[in-house]
Parts: sequence; structure tokens; C-alpha cells
Amino acid sequence: MKRDFLTLWDVSAAEIFFLIDQGIRLKQDWAAGLLKPVLQQKTLGLLFTKPSTRTRVSFEAAMHRLGGSCTFLNIQHTQLSRGEPLEDTARVLSRYLDALVVRTYDHQDVVTLARHAAIPVINGLTDLAHPCQVLSDLMTVVEKKKRLEDQVVAWVGDGNNMAHSWINASARLGFRLNISCPEGYWPSARVLERARREGIADIGLYENPAEAVRDATVINTDVWASMGQEHEAEKRRSVFRPFQVNAALLAKAPRDAIVMHCLPAHRGEEITAEVLEGPQSVVFDQAENRLHAQAALLQWLLAS
Ligand code: CP
Ligand code: NVA
Repeated sequence: MKRDFLTLWDVSAAEIFFLIDQGIRLKQDWAAGLLKPVLQQKTLGLLFTKPSTRTRVSFEAAMHRLGGSCTFLNIQHTQLSRGEPLEDTARVLSRYLDALVVRTYDHQDVVTLARHAAIPVINGLTDLAHPCQVLSDLMTVVEKKKRLEDQVVAWVGDGNNMAHSWINASARLGFRLNISCPEGYWPSARVLERARREGIADIGLYENPAEAVRDATVINTDVWASMGQEHEAEKRRSVFRPFQVNAALLAKAPRDAIVMHCLPAHRGEEITAEVLEGPQSVVFDQAENRLHAQAALLQWLLAS
């Protein structure tokens, strides 16, 4: 039966650890020139309605490295923009492609596509979740810090799609997650409630970001206005100001904490240039690992 990857709930803890191990192994194989073209004759579709640099290029490069090919579809240039139903699109694309990555606004659209597609559907970011990013971020944490279970991850800033995927990861794996957001910008209550009900999440909510980072081994942030929220950017800049990841906040955290950001970053807003470019930042390793973690995901979904 085909598997989808719409949120981290779609994979078990054992599968997450397997994908992380595979990502690390594929990274080593690539460096040693040992990567096998296990996805020959396979085609990945990328159906995107929001902009992307990392997600698009890392999936395309991963597919190419594994011997397969890609076709990129800007939703505005498909018949979806003229009213063709998602259900028909899913059934038609399933006749041409072996898997589909979708980036869009409404998470329900990806659920609908997955329900009607005969091929694996991968969430390449929705307003609700960004599981590919957090899967590769978990790989980065393992590379830098070894055991995921021992980490204290702080999320500082907006309770957005990235925060939701970190909550899902905590629910599956049980590491401590400290979330600090301004009033009115907390993660979805439903996402938090499911994590507490069905998972083994150990999640704390903090009004004060200094308290959230006090024991943190990993400090995470993201843009204050996500794609689709550009009209709120000015208001958000003033509301989120106390939640900036800067040298003063880092001084409250353990000295060996690593700093993560999924990128793109707005220097001087959610993170200062000094911290982003500083010795604790791992943001470009994080970006690279999108390639390796997604190569593992593709191989798992398509080659077996
Ligand atoms: N982090 C991330 O998903 O980047 P893109 O928006 O460039 O794909
Ligand atoms: N929260 C951000 C992540 C970008 C990769 C957004 O949705 O725009």
C-alpha cells in the first residue's frame, strides 16, 4: 500500500529514526561517490503554489542523484487554476508520476490530493505543517548532538507550521520542547492537544523566551510572517520584537546550544545577523540536510 508523508504523524518513531539513519548514510555515500541510482525510471512531480528555494531544489537534486527525474508544476500554470478538481488532478497525475510533493496554503488540499492519488504524496509545506523540514532538522540535531531523546528543544517566535511539525516530532519521539510565543500567536490548540493525547510529548509553554531557552540544547526560530501573512508583517514586527533570537537571549542558554532556522531568514527581525552567522548557528548544515533526508524519504517511499 502506498504511504503518504503529510505530517510527522504519518510515520512512527522507529520510521523517523530509520529515515534519519538513512539520510546520514546517503550523505556519506554521496561524499564517497557510492550513491546507487535506485530510482531509475521514477518521476517525482512537484506541485507548488507558494515560492520555494530549498524544498524545490533539494527534492530535484535528490531525485537526480538517485537516478530519477522530476517535473515541476506551478499550480497557477495547471488546470487547477481554472477549476479542475483536486480529485481529478490527483488521479491523472498518478498515471504519469511515481510520487508527488505538494506545497500550498490549505492543508486539506494536500489531504484531498493524497486521498485520491494512487502514488505517495509528500507535504512540501502547508499553512499547518512542514514535515520535510523538521525531518531533516532532526537529522541535523543527531549529527550535532547525537541522542535526540536527550535534547531540550526551544521554539521561540511564531506558533506556525514549523512549530506544529516540531510539536509532532516531540509527540512521536518524546524529547522536551519549550515553546515561547507572544500572546495570540501560540501554536494551534488542536495540534497541541493531539500531541498530548496521542503522543509522548513533553511540551512546556513559556511567555518569557529567556525561560524557554534556559536549559535548551537546540534553539529554533522562524520568520514572524509566513508566506500568505505578508499583509500582517508590520504589526507582527512590533508584537514579536521581544522574541528575537539575539546575543542577549543566547546568553541565557547553555553555551553549547545550537541555533537553527529553516530559512529564509530576515536578519534583524526574528534573528540577528550576529547569531545567524555566529559559531552556534547550524543553519547551512540544516539546509544541506534537506537533500539527504529527502533522498532517504524518496528511497523509502519509492524504491521498496
Ligand atoms: N525551508 C524551506 O522550506 O525553504 P524554501 O521555502 O526555500 O523551500
Ligand atoms: N513558516 C515559514 C516557513 C518557510 C520555509 C512559511 O510558511 O513561510
